[in-house]
Order: sequence, then structure tokens, then C-alpha cells
Amino acid sequence: MRLAGAIFSNVTKMLDFYSQFNPSPLSIKQFIDFGLNACERKSFLFLRKELPVRLANIMKEIALLPDNLLRMPSVGMVNQWYERSFEEIIQFEKMDPEPPVLTQFCERLIHIRNRHADVVQTMAQGVLELKESHEVDVGTENSIQYFLDRFYMSRISIRMLINQHTLLFGEEQVSARQASVSGIGNGGRHIGSIDPACDVVVVVRDAYENARFLCDRYYLASPDLELMQMGVASDRPMPIVYVPSHLYHMLFELFKNAMRAVMEHHESAPPPIQVNLINGKEDISVKMSDRGGGIPRSVTDLLFKYMYSTAPQPSKSDSHTVPLAGYGYGLPLSRLYARYFHGDLVLMSCEGYGTDAVIYLKALSNEANELLPIFNKTSTKFYRPVAQLADWSGSLNTASNSCKNREKVSPLSTPVSNSI
Ligand SMILES: Nc1ncnc2c1ncn2[C@@H]1O[C@H](COP(=O)(O)OP(=O)(O)OP(=O)(O)O)[C@@H](O)[C@H]1O
Ligand SMILES: [Mg+2]
Repeated sequence: MRLAGAIFSNVTKMLDFYSQFNPSPLSIKQFIDFGLNACERKSFLFLRKELPVRLANIMKEIALLPDNLLRMPSVGMVNQWYERSFEEIIQFEKMDPEPPVLTQFCERLIHIRNRHADVVQTMAQGVLELKESHEVDVGTENSIQYFLDRFYMSRISIRMLINQHTLLFGEEQVSARQASVSGIGNGGRHIGSIDPACDVVVVVRDAYENARFLCDRYYLASPDLELMQMGVASDRPMPIVYVPSHLYHMLFELFKNAMRAVMEHHESAPPPIQVNLINGKEDISVKMSDRGGGIPRSVTDLLFKYMYSTAPQPSKSDSHTVPLAGYGYGLPLSRLYARYFHGDLVLMSCEGYGTDAVIYLKALSNEANELLPIFNKTSTKFYRPVAQLADWSGSLNTASNSCKNREKVSPLSTPVSNSI
């Protein structure tokens, strides 16, 4: 018991220590340079500090969540995973970077990645548990939204670091997903999970085909794809330096949404979905336009809220197989992937007609820097919600109506992939 107490207080101290450091964001260019030039030893030395820093920064924010959320069983489980992983990495703090230690470190990272595989849906489950058991006020709702954006972003970044190390230095087999979205098998040009010549056209087609498969299964029909570059029909390759699995994730989510909207809006002859690829000096834009009837302005503020969905809420019995189906995580998570390397994802809709969704990516790999949450006084403030008074007439109608308007079950609200 005394020993457990001593270990606990030591971990708490280490957490305080590491949370004082700001995470160090890397650009895609730095990831590539590092991947091409750095040795395993250097990567180990970087990660054994950077991973605890990123973990500690977000763990400090977990601790600031409202008590009733922290008491939810799923949130408790996520918290324990983070504590375990933090402890396991700081064990390497003083070890010499000798080959057996490097091997052990790599194995540990894979173990940690597996442990955290279900974090997104488990945390989503925790929020659902809270909403089912408590009345959640607007202030708390906003804190949770603020937290989830940061928490999931932190997770994306930690997985990126772990993937780079294990793919570059471990004996990992490249997953089938990466092979299929980016032709990783032919050429071996990848640097970890980054493809320096990621063809946007291939990823668009891959995401479209997979979303169409779901759409056909449910609606027995699906909209065609019209692919354009700079507004002109084209199938020419359009290579960018990017993480193909991230781009695939965003496009797959947007296609599923667009297809569902189109099929619900048209009884027959669904109009095609247009994707226009635009290569600018600063930004690469991927614009997807559907004629699915659009979204009323009254709900546009809710689109990027976790749990806002007009799809039916999945039943508890589904929760193992399709845990995020219709949870309303598609858009907010996709926007995080876009923002992770300083891109963005925006929606523009005309109700009664259709929706344009644009993914913006940085065209230059040295400008594609990681966007990371930092724990400090400013972030802490967001966890102490103050009563909000309207400062415009008729405003402040942002209370969650996440589960309103749910319609019949649609397979196009499927779980987001966790394999990234
Ligand atoms: N292209 C679109 N046209 C019309 N409505 C849309 C479109 N894209 C999103 N929406 C609306 O936004 C809501 C939220 O989308 P989001 O992708 O976040 O969640 P979802 O599709 O409901 O569930 P999932 O988590 O499985 O993606 C949708 O339920 C839908 O009502
Ligand atoms: Mg969706």
C-alpha cells in the first residue's frame, strides 16, 4: 500500500514536471527530414521527452473536466490508459540508448498505441453516459466541446509521433489500409506515414468508392463522382506531400455525408457529387459539392459539435461493432485532421439546394506545422465556465440539441476509422 502511494506521488510529480513544457510542433518537412536523416537513437531521445510532454499537457486538462464527467466509467478508463502509458514512457527517462533499450522502446510504443486504439469511442461513450445521467448546462457543454477538440488533437499528434518511430525503425508491416489508399506497396517512397507524392486523385477515388459501397448497400443506388481540377474535368495525378490516411479519413467522412444527403433529397436519379481540386501557391483546396438539399443556417453552429447528428442514435447493442455510427463525430474529427497540419475544413450550404465542403491543406510542407494544444493559464480558464448572458438580442441558443431530429438508421453514419 505504501509502495503504491509512493509510486502514485512520484507519477504525480513527474506529471507536474512534464506539463510545464510546451509541446514542440513539427512540420511535415521536419518529419521528412528527420525520417530521412535521423537515426533510431535520436528519435528515441526526442520521443522519450516529447511523448511525456504531450501526454502530461493533455492529462492536466483531463483533470480539469467537470467532476461528474470524470466519474463516468468510460472516462475513468481513458484516464487510466493515459496514466499507464505516461508511467511506461517515463521509465525510459534515464536509460542509455543501447540497442536492447531501443527495441524495448519500440515495442512499448506499439503496446501503447494498441492500448489507446479505442480512446475516441470510449471518450464519446463517457460524454454520452454523462448526458444520459445528468442535465448538462451550456457552460459545461462548451467546456466539453473545447476539451474534446484538444484531447482528440493531442491524440492525433501522439499517434503521428508513435507511427513515425515504429514505421521507420520497427519491424512493422505496413497496414492494408495505407497500401490501398496510397499505393505504398509499389515504390516504397513513404517516410513513415507520410507520402511525399501523395496523389490526391487516388485518395479521392478510394474514399469515394468505399463510401459508395456503403451507400449502395443501404439505398441501392449512389451518386456518381465528377472529378475536376481547377474547374475542368480531369484525372491527372495531383501529388502533394501529406499523410494519405489523414486525407482519406476526411474525404471518406465528407463523401458519406454528401451521399446520405443526396440520397435522402432525391427519390430517383441522384445528381453527381463534384470534387474540384485546386492547387494554389499557399493552399491546396479540395472542394466537394453536393446537391443534397443543404443545411439550414439555424443548425450550422452545431455541425462541428461532437454528438450533433441528424442520424439516429446508435443503440447500446451496436456500440461494440459500430461505436460511432451516427454519433456526430464525422465533421468535428475530420476538421481536426485538417487543422492538425494547419489546414482547415469548412462547410457552406444553401438550404434547399446543397452543400459545399472544402478541405484546405498547406501547399508547402515547411508551413504544414502541427497544431497542438498547450496546457497553461489560458486553457485552464475554459474549464471554469461562467454563466453566459446574451450580448445580442435573440442569441445564446447554443444549448445542445445533439440528439434532436434523428432520422432512420443510415449506414453512411459509420464509425470513423481508428487505424490512423
Ligand atoms: N453534405 C451535407 N448535406 C446535408 N447535411 C449534412 C451534410 N454534411 C453534414 N450534414 C449534417 O451534419 C450532421 C453532422 O455530420 P457528421 O458527419 O458530423 O455526423 P453524422 O454524419 O451524423 O454521424 P457520423 O459521426 O457517423 O459522421 C449530419 O447528421 C447532417 O445532418
Ligand atoms: Mg458523417
